[in-house]
Amino acid sequence: MESEMVKFKESAIAEIQDAKNPIELDGVRVKYLGRAGLISKLSESMRDVPKGERPRIGKLLNEVRLTLTSAFEDRAEAFAAQHDLAAIEDIDETLPSTPLRLGAIHPLTQLQDRAIQVFRRLGFALAAGPDIETEWNCFDALNTPPNHPARNETDTFYLPDGRLLRTHTSTVQIRTMLATPPPVRVIAPGAAYRRDEMDATHLSQFNQLEGLYIDKHVTISDLKGTLEYFVRELLGSQVETRMRPHFFPFTEPSLELDIRLPGVNSGRWMELLGCGIVDPTVLEKVNEGRGDQAYDPGKWTGYAFGMGLDRLAMALFGLPDIRLLIENDQRFLAQFV
Ligand code: DAH
Repeated sequence: MESEMVKFKESAIAEIQDAKNPIELDGVRVKYLGRAGLISKLSESMRDVPKGERPRIGKLLNEVRLTLTSAFEDRAEAFAAQHDLAAIEDIDETLPSTPLRLGAIHPLTQLQDRAIQVFRRLGFALAAGPDIETEWNCFDALNTPPNHPARNETDTFYLPDGRLLRTHTSTVQIRTMLATPPPVRVIAPGAAYRRDEMDATHLSQFNQLEGLYIDKHVTISDLKGTLEYFVRELLGSQVETRMRPHFFPFTEPSLELDIRLPGVNSGRWMELLGCGIVDPTVLEKVNEGRGDQAYDPGKWTGYAFGMGLDRLAMALFGLPDIRLLIENDQRFLAQFV
C-alpha cells in the first residue's frame, strides 16, 4: 500500500502539471480528491492494513492528501494569474486616462436650496406631498370649481383612475392642514405638471416653492414683510419689489409679486410669485376633510404663496432656453460649480 501511495502521488502531481486549463484541472481534482475519488478509495482500503501499521500508513495518506490539495491550489492560482495577464495584454498604459469630471450642484437645486434656507431662518418647516394627487387635493379643496380651465383635460394630466399629476404645489397646503392642527408654517418645494408644449420657455414638468402660514391675526402686512425679506435675502438689497392685485381661487385678496433687479431680465419687472390671504372657503374645505373644526375661519387666518423656480433660475443665470435645465448637458452643468 505504501508503494502504491507513492506512485499514486507522483502520477497525480504529473497530471496536475499537465492540465492545460482550469476545466482539465478540475477533472483531475475530481479524479483524485473527489468524494468518489482515488484518495477516498485508498482510505477505504485502510481496513485491510494490519492494525499496528495503521497509524503510520494513515499519516502517510493524510500527507498525500495535503500535498495534492496544495498542488491543485497552486495550479489553479497560476491559471487565474494567466487569465488576468491575458486580460490586460491589449491595454496601452501610455494612453492618457479618461478625464475625471467633477460634479456640480444643478443650478435649480442651488436656487431651491438657497430659498429654503431663507425660509427656514424665518421658522418655516419643510413639508412635502406626492406628485400624483387626488382631484380634491389639487382643485376642490383649493376652491377651484369643476368648470375652472385649470381642470380641463387639455391642461392637466389625468390618470385613468381619476387621479392627476399635481398642477401646483398648493396641494401640500391641503395635505399639511389635513394632517396638523393650526398654527402651521411650512414651505414645500417640488415638481408640478401641466400639459404645455415644450419650447424655450415652457416645460410640462416644472418646479415650484409653496408657502403657507396659518395663525391668529395673520395679515397682508405679515405676507408683504416676509416676502420682501425673502427676496432681499435671496437676491440682494438692490432688488425692487412691487405687488399687484390678482385672482386665485384659494386666496382672497390675491396678489402677484414682481421683482426688478439690475442686469436681470434686461432690467425689466418680472413676475416672481402668486400669493394672498387664504380664502376662508379653503379652511372650511379642510375642516370638511378633517371632520372637525380645527381650522375655524373665525379664529384662524393665514397667507399662502407659490413661486416658480425655473423661470427665476433662467433670469438669474441668464439662460436663453428653459430646456437647458433638463438636458443634462455636461458643458452646461459644468458652468455652475
Ligand atoms: N398655485 C399657483 C400657481 O401654480 C401659485 C399660487 C398662487 C400659490 C397664490 C399660492 C397662492 O399659494 O396663494 O400658479
